[in-house]
Amino acid sequence: MTDSAASLKRAAAVRALDFVEDGMKLGLGTGSTAEAFLDVLAPRIKGGLSIVGVPTSEKTAQKARTLGIPLSTLDQMGELDLTVDGADEADRAFNLIKGGGAALLREKIVAASSKRMVVIADGSKLVNRLGKYPLPIEVAAFGHLSTARRIGLRLAAFGYAKPAVTQRMKDGEAVTTDGGNVIYDAALGSIGDAPALAAALSGIPGVVDHGLFIGLATALVIAREGGTEVIEAAAG
Ligand code: 5RP
Repeated sequence: MTDSAASLKRAAAVRALDFVEDGMKLGLGTGSTAEAFLDVLAPRIKGGLSIVGVPTSEKTAQKARTLGIPLSTLDQMGELDLTVDGADEADRAFNLIKGGGAALLREKIVAASSKRMVVIADGSKLVNRLGKYPLPIEVAAFGHLSTARRIGLRLAAFGYAKPAVTQRMKDGEAVTTDGGNVIYDAALGSIGDAPALAAALSGIPGVVDHGLFIGLATALVIAREGGTEVIEAAAG
């Protein structure tokens, strides 16, 4: 990561602190930008801010523990006040692509359990149309090749001509999620109707979840060299 990328992530993270209030139950996202948020949150806690965090991955939990951020589980906390998380892409309709860090399932469950979700990102993540970033899809390990074939067929029926649906690998090994599932990435190029695609993918047996987050984000905090823009959804 370049110094400038790191400082934009930090700027977005600092701005997101404005959404945090004493006593909040906070969903803690996954990824480098979400980690920048942990870095700026921890000193506030040392300074007296009282929050309880619910991590969206084992990696985030580990880092939060190292920083002394108090943690609990989603089931113990119930509804959360706010989740702060990164994204791979976001549009101005508050649709997101997430899952670049393979944490999309827990991220989505935590975001859906939160009254508000603030997305923190550098300006490169804000796009006019989603889809340049390959869409992560979490698939049950059982029969995953067969599920991947059916994902390809569903995407073709949806108008994507022979989309590449590729299993995510690292160092020659299949990437597995905290839940023990595998990840496929679908190279779509451009997603015209994100809510319709999200619903179509959710209906495929073997698809545990996918990285399209529809109707979950309530604010985007976008950091650029010239300043930080906050885009908030209309209340209601
Ligand atoms: C993890 C995610 C991340 O939020 C997303 O990949 C962005 O990560 P980064 O802030 O490192 O660019 O969805 O599953």
